[in-house]
Amino acid sequence: MDQFFDDIWRGLKASPKYLQSKYFYDEAGDAIFMEIMECPEYYLTNCEREIFSNQSNELANTILNHFHEFDVAELGAGDATKTVYLLEALAKHKADFTYYPIDISANIITRLNKQLPGIITGIRVHGLNGEYFAMLEELKRMSAKNKLVLFLGSSIGNIPLAETAGFFSALKAHLMPGDLLLTGFDLKKDPKIILDAYNDKAGVTRRFNLNLLKRINNTLDADFDLSQFEHCPAYSDETGECKSYLQSLKNQIVRIGTAGRIDFKEGEQIYMEISQKYSVQQTDEIAEAAGFTVVRHFYDSKKWFLDALWQYR
Ligand code: AVI
Repeated sequence: MDQFFDDIWRGLKASPKYLQSKYFYDEAGDAIFMEIMECPEYYLTNCEREIFSNQSNELANTILNHFHEFDVAELGAGDATKTVYLLEALAKHKADFTYYPIDISANIITRLNKQLPGIITGIRVHGLNGEYFAMLEELKRMSAKNKLVLFLGSSIGNIPLAETAGFFSALKAHLMPGDLLLTGFDLKKDPKIILDAYNDKAGVTRRFNLNLLKRINNTLDADFDLSQFEHCPAYSDETGECKSYLQSLKNQIVRIGTAGRIDFKEGEQIYMEISQKYSVQQTDEIAEAAGFTVVRHFYDSKKWFLDALWQYR
């Protein structure tokens, strides 16, 4: 709660104003994100689902070329719908593995622990509820086996490009040489397709962004008038940066509990989120910079999305 206040206050007092997109995901935000994944414009989920539904056998074979007895750890497992295809393929190939979904939501972990054994007979599931790196450390204490780490859905895109190699280097500190990492990257494509994915006609993404203002109202006793802010996504094909902003529709003052007031000018924006898009070459360069070897690329049929398999060398 204090951390939440500090981060929100610092972001709104900054110039230009910003909020951290990790705070999108309260209970309502989780539910709206599920709705986003069902939007016809939000192609990312369908593309990655296609990769997993069509190529899980190939993927399993490639993994089993490296090791046969291992742990599968998934960062931000969500409902694991795509992962189930891979877990089924691994089980079919008689791989000896335990699945460790890692998620900040206790709800999600409880659900996966309960549901997965009903879907994949004999699977060992051990959900870990907490932050990625802390849970990887806990896993390291529990098991010395090689790891396959899954980081799907282009969640990596929510980290600015300049910090991405640093993120993977930090991740490496929790792995062992030989471990595998499968990361989902959303690739550059027709800018209109990308922009539409973050500006769906039904206004779900707009609601997703505004929900953070609602969360601030509810948690910090603030008085944002949600009807006076507009959702504005912007995409640069040159940099691959897709950024979302909330724009103030008038000059207004917002009170944040007893902490103080925030002034907004008409047209002033709050920077909410980055969803970075990549070229394939860029992803290879990130792997190289972070000390991973590229093992194989898995694409959907339109080549809009890449699941890149890397090995810690
Ligand atoms: C979770 N993350 C990969 C999503 C994305 O595409 O950046 C979050 C999102 N924001 C708006 N729509 C979806």
